Amino acid sequence: MIPPEILRSLPLVDEILGSHRQHCHGDDEGYDAYKAHAYRVVNFARALAPDGPQRDDKLAIAAAFHDLAAFDTLDYLVPSIEAQDAWLQETGRENWSDELALMVAEHHRLSRYRQTRAHAPLVEAFRRADLVDVSQGRIRFGIPRSYVTEVRAAFDASVFFKRVVPSGALRAVRKFQLPGFLLPRNALVRSGHEGIDR
Ligand SMILES: [Fe+2]
Repeated sequence: MIPPEILRSLPLVDEILGSHRQHCHGDDEGYDAYKAHAYRVVNFARALAPDGPQRDDKLAIAAAFHDLAAFDTLDYLVPSIEAQDAWLQETGRENWSDELALMVAEHHRLSRYRQTRAHAPLVEAFRRADLVDVSQGRIRFGIPRSYVTEVRAAFDASVFFKRVVPSGALRAVRKFQLPGFLLPRNALVRSGHEGIDR
Protein backbone atom coordinates (compact mmCIF):
# COMPACT_ATOMS: atom_id res chain seq x y z
CA MET A 1 0.00 0.00 0.00
CA ILE A 2 1.24 3.47 -0.88
CA PRO A 3 -0.50 5.83 1.55
CA PRO A 4 -1.64 9.28 0.46
CA GLU A 5 0.02 12.57 1.31
CA ILE A 6 -0.73 13.54 4.93
CA LEU A 7 -3.46 16.20 5.14
CA ARG A 8 -2.46 18.78 7.75
CA SER A 9 -5.35 21.16 7.25
CA LEU A 10 -8.96 19.97 7.42
CA PRO A 11 -11.24 23.03 7.25
CA LEU A 12 -14.42 21.00 7.93
CA VAL A 13 -12.97 19.51 11.11
CA ASP A 14 -11.82 22.98 12.23
CA GLU A 15 -15.20 24.53 11.46
CA ILE A 16 -17.22 21.83 13.26
CA LEU A 17 -15.01 21.72 16.32
CA GLY A 18 -14.88 25.51 16.41
CA SER A 19 -18.66 25.76 16.57
CA HIS A 20 -19.08 22.93 19.13
CA ARG A 21 -16.52 24.00 21.72
CA GLN A 22 -19.17 24.07 24.47
CA HIS A 23 -18.86 20.25 24.59
CA CYS A 24 -15.40 20.48 26.19
CA HIS A 25 -16.62 22.50 29.23
CA GLY A 26 -13.52 24.70 29.18
CA ASP A 27 -11.04 21.84 28.75
CA ASP A 28 -9.23 23.52 25.85
CA GLU A 29 -6.19 21.26 26.12
CA GLY A 30 -8.37 18.16 25.97
CA TYR A 31 -10.32 19.62 23.07
CA ASP A 32 -7.16 20.33 21.06
CA ALA A 33 -6.05 16.76 21.71
CA TYR A 34 -9.41 15.48 20.48
CA LYS A 35 -8.96 17.54 17.32
CA ALA A 36 -5.56 15.90 16.85
CA HIS A 37 -7.20 12.46 17.18
CA ALA A 38 -9.79 13.48 14.54
CA TYR A 39 -7.00 14.57 12.17
CA ARG A 40 -5.23 11.24 12.65
CA VAL A 41 -8.42 9.28 12.01
CA VAL A 42 -9.12 11.16 8.76
CA ASN A 43 -5.59 10.48 7.53
CA PHE A 44 -5.71 6.78 8.40
CA ALA A 45 -9.19 6.43 6.90
CA ARG A 46 -8.03 8.03 3.63
CA ALA A 47 -5.29 5.42 3.45
CA LEU A 48 -7.83 2.62 4.00
CA ALA A 49 -10.98 3.75 2.15
CA PRO A 50 -11.68 3.42 -1.55
CA ASP A 51 -12.14 6.78 -3.26
CA GLY A 52 -15.70 7.94 -3.76
CA PRO A 53 -17.82 11.03 -4.15
CA GLN A 54 -17.15 13.48 -1.31
CA ARG A 55 -15.27 10.78 0.58
CA ASP A 56 -12.94 13.21 2.32
CA ASP A 57 -15.74 15.53 3.43
CA LYS A 58 -17.67 12.59 4.90
CA LEU A 59 -14.58 11.34 6.72
CA ALA A 60 -13.83 14.80 8.10
CA ILE A 61 -17.38 15.30 9.39
CA ALA A 62 -17.61 11.86 11.02
CA ALA A 63 -14.16 12.30 12.56
CA ALA A 64 -15.12 15.67 14.05
CA PHE A 65 -18.27 14.25 15.65
CA HIS A 66 -17.40 10.63 16.46
CA ASP A 67 -16.16 11.14 20.04
CA LEU A 68 -17.48 14.68 20.57
CA ALA A 69 -19.69 13.89 23.58
CA ALA A 70 -16.90 11.94 25.31
CA PHE A 71 -16.28 15.10 27.35
CA ASP A 72 -19.74 14.62 28.92
CA THR A 73 -20.11 10.86 29.29
CA LEU A 74 -18.67 7.52 28.26
CA ASP A 75 -22.09 6.67 26.81
CA TYR A 76 -21.31 9.15 24.08
CA LEU A 77 -22.24 7.62 20.76
CA VAL A 78 -25.88 8.71 20.82
CA PRO A 79 -25.28 12.36 21.78
CA SER A 80 -22.43 12.51 19.23
CA ILE A 81 -24.73 11.23 16.47
CA GLU A 82 -27.45 13.66 17.55
CA ALA A 83 -25.03 16.60 17.35
CA GLN A 84 -23.89 15.38 13.93
CA ASP A 85 -27.49 15.05 12.68
CA ALA A 86 -28.32 18.57 13.83
CA TRP A 87 -25.28 19.99 12.04
CA LEU A 88 -25.96 18.03 8.84
CA GLN A 89 -29.51 19.37 8.88
CA GLU A 90 -28.34 22.96 9.42
CA THR A 91 -25.84 22.76 6.57
CA GLY A 92 -28.14 21.05 4.06
CA ARG A 93 -26.33 17.71 4.18
CA GLU A 94 -29.11 15.62 5.77
CA ASN A 95 -28.84 13.09 2.90
CA TRP A 96 -25.55 11.97 4.50
CA SER A 97 -27.16 11.47 7.89
CA ASP A 98 -27.60 7.67 7.79
CA GLU A 99 -24.15 6.90 6.40
CA LEU A 100 -22.39 9.17 8.89
CA ALA A 101 -24.53 7.90 11.80
CA LEU A 102 -23.41 4.37 10.92
CA MET A 103 -19.77 5.44 10.78
CA VAL A 104 -20.03 6.82 14.31
CA ALA A 105 -22.28 4.07 15.72
CA GLU A 106 -20.09 1.21 14.46
CA HIS A 107 -16.68 2.68 15.20
CA HIS A 108 -16.15 0.71 18.44
CA ARG A 109 -16.81 -2.67 16.83
CA LEU A 110 -13.89 -5.01 17.30
CA SER A 111 -14.95 -7.21 14.40
CA ARG A 112 -15.28 -6.39 10.75
CA TYR A 113 -18.37 -4.58 9.43
CA ARG A 114 -19.30 -6.89 6.53
CA GLN A 115 -19.00 -5.57 2.97
CA THR A 116 -22.58 -6.62 2.19
CA ARG A 117 -24.03 -4.26 4.81
CA ALA A 118 -25.18 -0.71 4.19
CA HIS A 119 -22.49 1.93 3.55
CA ALA A 120 -19.77 -0.64 4.26
CA PRO A 121 -16.78 1.01 2.52
CA LEU A 122 -16.63 4.11 4.72
CA VAL A 123 -18.08 2.48 7.86
CA GLU A 124 -15.37 -0.19 7.83
CA ALA A 125 -12.54 2.17 6.87
CA PHE A 126 -13.54 4.55 9.65
CA ARG A 127 -13.73 1.73 12.23
CA ARG A 128 -10.26 0.56 11.22
CA ALA A 129 -8.83 4.08 11.22
CA ASP A 130 -9.98 4.71 14.79
CA LEU A 131 -8.56 1.35 15.89
CA VAL A 132 -5.18 2.17 14.33
CA ASP A 133 -4.95 5.24 16.56
CA VAL A 134 -6.53 3.75 19.70
CA SER A 135 -4.14 0.76 19.47
CA GLN A 136 -1.25 3.25 19.19
CA GLY A 137 -0.36 1.81 15.81
CA ARG A 138 -0.10 -1.80 16.98
CA ILE A 139 -2.99 -2.63 14.63
CA ARG A 140 -2.46 -1.10 11.18
CA PHE A 141 -4.59 -3.00 8.61
CA GLY A 142 -1.75 -2.89 6.10
CA ILE A 143 -0.89 0.80 6.49
CA PRO A 144 2.93 1.05 6.57
CA ARG A 145 4.29 1.48 10.08
CA SER A 146 6.30 4.54 9.00
CA TYR A 147 3.12 6.29 7.82
CA VAL A 148 1.30 5.55 11.08
CA THR A 149 4.27 6.89 13.04
CA GLU A 150 4.43 10.02 10.89
CA VAL A 151 0.70 10.77 11.20
CA ARG A 152 0.70 10.19 14.97
CA ALA A 153 3.74 12.45 15.38
CA ALA A 154 2.11 15.20 13.30
CA PHE A 155 -0.90 15.57 15.64
CA ASP A 156 -0.60 15.30 19.43
CA ALA A 157 -3.66 13.55 20.84
CA SER A 158 -2.09 12.13 24.01
CA VAL A 159 -4.13 14.20 26.48
CA PHE A 160 -7.36 13.01 24.91
CA PHE A 161 -6.56 9.36 25.61
CA LYS A 162 -4.83 9.90 28.96
CA ARG A 163 -7.33 12.23 30.53
CA VAL A 164 -10.53 13.04 28.61
CA VAL A 165 -11.83 9.53 28.05
CA PRO A 166 -11.07 8.27 31.57
CA SER A 167 -12.64 11.34 33.21
CA GLY A 168 -15.77 10.85 31.09
CA ALA A 169 -15.84 7.24 32.20
CA LEU A 170 -15.69 8.28 35.80
CA ARG A 171 -18.65 10.62 35.41
CA ALA A 172 -20.65 7.93 33.61
CA VAL A 173 -20.05 5.47 36.42
CA ARG A 174 -21.11 8.07 38.97
CA LYS A 175 -24.35 8.58 37.06
CA PHE A 176 -24.90 4.82 36.70
CA GLN A 177 -25.16 5.16 32.94
CA LEU A 178 -25.05 2.14 30.69
CA PRO A 179 -21.94 2.20 28.52
CA GLY A 180 -23.86 2.45 25.24
CA PHE A 181 -20.63 2.43 23.24
CA LEU A 182 -20.62 -1.32 23.75
CA LEU A 183 -24.03 -1.56 22.09
CA PRO A 184 -23.78 -0.09 18.63
CA ARG A 185 -27.18 -1.35 17.46
CA ASN A 186 -28.79 0.16 20.50
CA ALA A 187 -27.02 3.45 19.65
CA LEU A 188 -28.64 3.48 16.21
CA VAL A 189 -32.10 2.91 17.68
CA ARG A 190 -31.65 5.58 20.33
CA SER A 191 -30.45 8.16 17.82
CA GLY A 192 -33.40 7.56 15.50
CA HIS A 193 -31.54 5.51 12.88
CA GLU A 194 -33.02 2.08 13.54
CA GLY A 195 -32.55 -0.44 10.74
CA ILE A 196 -30.24 1.65 8.56
CA ASP A 197 -27.46 -0.92 8.82
CA ARG A 198 -29.33 -3.53 6.81
FE1 LIG B 1 -12.05 7.99 18.25
